[in-house]
Amino acid sequence: MENAKLILNGKEYELPVVVGSEDEVGVDISTFRAKSGAITLDDGYGNTGSCKSAITFIDGEKGILRYRGYPIEELAENASFVEVCYLLIYGKLPNQAELAAFDHQLTRHSLIHEDMKKFFEGFPSSAHPMAILSAMIASLSAYYPDENNVDLNIIRLLSKARTIAAFSYKKSVGQPFVYPLNDLGYCENFLHMLFAVPAEPYKISPTLTKALNLLLILHADHEQNCSTSTVRMVGSSQANLFASISAGVCALWGPLHGGANQEVIEMLEHIRADGGDYKKYMEMAKDKSSSFKLMGFGHRVYKNFDPRAKILKKAADAVLAELGVADPTLAIAKNLEDVALNDPYFVDRKLYPNVDFYSGIIYRAMNIPTDMFTVMFALGRLPGWIAQWKEMHDDKSARINRPRQIYIGAPKREWVPVNKRA
Ligand code: CMC
Repeated sequence: MENAKLILNGKEYELPVVVGSEDEVGVDISTFRAKSGAITLDDGYGNTGSCKSAITFIDGEKGILRYRGYPIEELAENASFVEVCYLLIYGKLPNQAELAAFDHQLTRHSLIHEDMKKFFEGFPSSAHPMAILSAMIASLSAYYPDENNVDLNIIRLLSKARTIAAFSYKKSVGQPFVYPLNDLGYCENFLHMLFAVPAEPYKISPTLTKALNLLLILHADHEQNCSTSTVRMVGSSQANLFASISAGVCALWGPLHGGANQEVIEMLEHIRADGGDYKKYMEMAKDKSSSFKLMGFGHRVYKNFDPRAKILKKAADAVLAELGVADPTLAIAKNLEDVALNDPYFVDRKLYPNVDFYSGIIYRAMNIPTDMFTVMFALGRLPGWIAQWKEMHDDKSARINRPRQIYIGAPKREWVPVNKRA
């Protein structure tokens, strides 16, 4: 493809074009400032590629999502979350021996250091589990400071984050921590640590295990979103894996990102408590003088159905039916979706339900409390963050991430002593 040409102050600059393996086109502006003195400005990075990556492909116009080339629909139908972790991090589907070894490692590294258990005592029982998760993941670097053992640290993080998440839930409900069991798979072990109590045996439901596996797979990666870009930003300074991922957890927490799944359920509950008049809330979402947004709708990249939302809508029906749960908020969600898909405001802006719209309804049917929803998203996203961190870490030409700015503050001014200031 021919170079791009950019004319600034009458002077023409040639800029190379980069073409991806799915024919996506980017103009490489990395030398533009050196040649012209000008930078490019892109508020919110809506049109800026921050890296080349071989991990996840999204075509937001067509509603396509693939991990390492495999369509999300096929992975959701056939894969285990552990396989998807391996696929994202190491770039290929594991063969039987590789999968068994990886799974074994995850099982062997599920305990957290007993000293770390004391950290939980210091948090108030009202602490949001995302605060605990990010603090504990950063703390892992104090226990595993050997940064050269990347593969082992990856295993530790994948396995121990699950234990930390379950313990943070136990802390919030005032129950004793339940240790992992080595004869349980990744998802079963999490459910066991979450829901088992010493007083009675806990029978792990295959429906819950299947639903959890699906939810984790659907959240596993989503290319350069806010939290992943945060992981890469922090990691670009050569900060260690645990510190970088802990920063990603914090970025995910926000209500415009992973925190939206908690907000969706709270919104649906609010509409229900207010008599179920969803049309009133649709009008509020369109009203620019109101700060109300339809949570779980819209996406920076998808201008078509989020393929994850399509899968989750079907799964919500199936899981609720299998568990015998009748949740009135599911009907409200479907009504909101129907209205939005036919309303010019949403149609013109290409606003569709995103992954967070139906996931919370499934988590709730599984008895997972609302403030754990974003933690569930984080557990799912872990392999994606790790894969993206590792891709950058392995790229010896990677530079520290350091965007520029256009300064719009005061011009140079003279210092004024305090007694002479207005
Ligand atoms: N309800 C009402 N209006 C909306 C919504 C919404 N949920 N989302 C976008 N809009 C409007 C927005 O006001 C703007 O209108 P206008 O052109 O008149 O100014 C237009 O649609 C374009 O939206 P934007 O805010 O410029 O889009 P963005 O790419 O900056 O933001 C978003 C994307 C996801 C932050 C936004 O759609 C949003 O806040 N949605 C609700 C929160 C949510 O569900 N977040 C989860 C995202 S998916 C999970 C993840 O990966 O994080």
